[in-house]
Amino acid sequence: MAKNALVTGWGFYAPSRVMTNAELERIVDTSDEWITSRTGIKERRIASDEETTSFMSVRAGRAALEKAHLRPQDVQLVIVGTCSPDYLFPATACLVQTELGATRAGAFDVEAACTSFITALAIARGMIVSGAVQNALVIGAERLSRLLNWKDRTTCVLFGDGAGAAVLEASNASVGIESTVLHGDGSKGEMLMVQAGGSKRPASAETIERGQHFITMAGGEVFKLAVKSMADAAEEAIAEAGLTLDDIDILIPHQANVRIIDGVAKRLRFPPEKVFINIQRYGNTSAASIPIAICEAEATGRLRRGDKVLLVAFGGGFTWGAAVLEWFGAHDGVRPLSPLERAGRALEDVVERVRPI
Ligand code: COA
Repeated sequence: MAKNALVTGWGFYAPSRVMTNAELERIVDTSDEWITSRTGIKERRIASDEETTSFMSVRAGRAALEKAHLRPQDVQLVIVGTCSPDYLFPATACLVQTELGATRAGAFDVEAACTSFITALAIARGMIVSGAVQNALVIGAERLSRLLNWKDRTTCVLFGDGAGAAVLEASNASVGIESTVLHGDGSKGEMLMVQAGGSKRPASAETIERGQHFITMAGGEVFKLAVKSMADAAEEAIAEAGLTLDDIDILIPHQANVRIIDGVAKRLRFPPEKVFINIQRYGNTSAASIPIAICEAEATGRLRRGDKVLLVAFGGGFTWGAAVLEWFGAHDGVRPLSPLERAGRALEDVVERVRPI
């Protein structure tokens, strides 16, 4: 059994269409000043008709696989964390698995709203460490623009679209994902939800008339709970990893609101300069926010080999959780294969060549 699950690849996809606060000023009664001062958001990406959740997931996933030097046909598990799947079913992960050519992978979606990526990471880590799989492609992806009421200024200014992915591989090294914690509280679920379109309240002329297919949120309540829950989960994950807050080199939180992030850092007494923030350019991309932030932290040199990383999120459900990992980074050049893997691949290539069309 592997000792650990290591992140060996990462990638993200963001739609090219940028929607600025100035543009929102023309759609709803809001202002750049209000949005910036209350949330930290300056702009967000909005998916085109072609850029579905699966479309963005495939692109983020492909980039992560390339970084890990892992062939799609060698992927054993695809998990997509999302609350804006292409369909109720089939799972977005199945669409992604097929499109990527990950023909031998199991595939399923995880829905824990903004905590979906950490939840998927925890599941993948557990399956790797138990020996059930050797690797997993974990994706967080959202197309929330299609679930927003563009007449509701209290929600439409907050969210954006995008996808981020990570490849996890079994490793006998002592580094990797060191702890994960997950929590939930369904008793306050109605504070952040999409009321209709599920089996309890299926789509009907009435639900559409009432706008029940859109996200509704009691923002102020969510705000307060988010700060406390994220700080608590962070402390728990750090303790479970056998570390203290001083050991953490970088905090990459879910990007919901810069004031929530500041509140968490303050509550933890964590140095703000060690917190990674990119919400100003993406808004809240829910399940995608942490993996996109990981990619940008790495690309800008904020995330380096050996760094202890703290991930923390809070979302609808309510759900919240955290993870601590030691960043390994990319395999330099070619991914080292075990002799068994090497022999297996050589055999596969021969079979591929002689297989009748
Ligand atoms: N532009 C201008 N004014 C707005 C506005 C907008 N886009 N949205 C709300 N307002 C108004 C409100 O109507 C309210 O007006 P009123 O006092 O006349 O009633 C006023 O601004 C203040 O609203 P309030 O809700 O108190 O603001 P806030 O400081 O709590 O910030 C949020 C609102 C939504 C930004 C904040 O509560 C938040 O970020 N919550 C968490 C949201 C989240 O990201 N959840 C996802 C899961 S983590």
